[in-house]
Amino acid sequence: MPEVFNWQLGREMPFRFPARKRQQRQFAAVFNINRCIACQTCTMACKSTWTFSPGQELMWWNNVETKPYGGYPADWDVKLLALQAERDPGGQRWDGSRPTDAAPYGTFQGKTIFETADGVTQMATGYLPSDEEWKAPNAFEDHATGWSARGAKLPEHAGWFFYLQRICNHCTYPGCLAACPRNAIYKREEDGIVLIDQERCRGYRKCVEACPYKKPMWRSTTRTSEKCIGCYPRVEGEDPLTKGLPMEPRCMSACVGKIRLMGLVQVEADGTWAPDRHNPLHFLVQQERVALPLYPQFGTQPNVYYIPPRWVPRDYLRQMFGPGVDHAIERYTHPSRELLAVLQLFRAAQRIVFTYEIEEGRKIGDITVAGKRQPIYDDTVVGYDSDGGEIVRVNVAEPLFERRGKLNSI
Ligand code: SF4
Ligand code: SF4
Ligand code: F3S
Repeated sequence: MPEVFNWQLGREMPFRFPARKRQQRQFAAVFNINRCIACQTCTMACKSTWTFSPGQELMWWNNVETKPYGGYPADWDVKLLALQAERDPGGQRWDGSRPTDAAPYGTFQGKTIFETADGVTQMATGYLPSDEEWKAPNAFEDHATGWSARGAKLPEHAGWFFYLQRICNHCTYPGCLAACPRNAIYKREEDGIVLIDQERCRGYRKCVEACPYKKPMWRSTTRTSEKCIGCYPRVEGEDPLTKGLPMEPRCMSACVGKIRLMGLVQVEADGTWAPDRHNPLHFLVQQERVALPLYPQFGTQPNVYYIPPRWVPRDYLRQMFGPGVDHAIERYTHPSRELLAVLQLFRAAQRIVFTYEIEEGRKIGDITVAGKRQPIYDDTVVGYDSDGGEIVRVNVAEPLFERRGKLNSI
């Protein structure tokens, strides 16, 4: 089987297909878990756009689940982690002691889902969820792990839960694509979006079994599988609103909590990210390392990254996001001047921000977080589209509006 380089694991691994000869850009996104309010606007934006037809009733390409008990399908991650532990006992370990630019999380020493499968009957370790498990997108909503009479206090809360926002990761090494016996799944060169060709699909459901994130879903009326399409018509600029310029997907641009930022990053043919200093995604993932992949140990090199929640026990987070968790939370708790400005870009525009610049502003005060005092500046972050045109300009300090004593009839 060909070997490919997985930078999230810091090593090579086997994959059914060799590294791509040409790939220009990759669909990528950062979700800030700390800000999500689980309003499910993203979920409904996706559903009302793509999955409102007969046979798609229980199909949620975007879902937001409450961790640790929630999951769609139920227990998807717990089940796969158990399967991996069975096939690779004690193997889920990282050597995070020597992170480098090429391997920012160190090296994963265990086996990926491709390495625990036999490569003949199964291309990737996985399972098919039952109908019962597909029934609810967010069972156990707002169920906490415990309760503390002393209240909540950072760095970790005694009783905790958090919301995990989930879409297809448009993986660099997709398990779904590797598993399909019909070769019905393909990854686009221009943006890395992973699609199921509905003409070729015969409904074998190997993709459903092999996707570690359980994002392909079978449809009984067509007897084929469907999945998140990355809103590719919007990304291509076909929506009249942006006059031909690339636009963020529905779930991202509808986000009420402003927790999502989507972009197209420049990548090399081997899936590593090309230097792109002023791309906000590049800054968050590669430079600040404040956003981390979901279960990188599965090996698909997912392209959705998460700023981990600050209040959750670190062991749980390290299992979910890898060894970069402590660094990411430290960066988020005490953000650099540039990071604080870039965080304002989340859902600030409908068009995709390709580059940004920061205009320095005056100091507006000092704040103390977790015992550390730091100055805050009212900088302005300016976002530019693919043609270099300015599309957004946001200040760090939120504007303050004073209402007149009497407003209308109130
Ligand atoms: Fe395929 Fe699943 Fe990765 Fe999406 S998340 S590309 S469905 S393996
Ligand atoms: Fe749905 Fe588009 Fe978001 Fe995918 S990118 S989950 S298709 S709204
Ligand atoms: Fe292939 Fe999945 Fe269809 S395995 S045939 S894309 S259901």
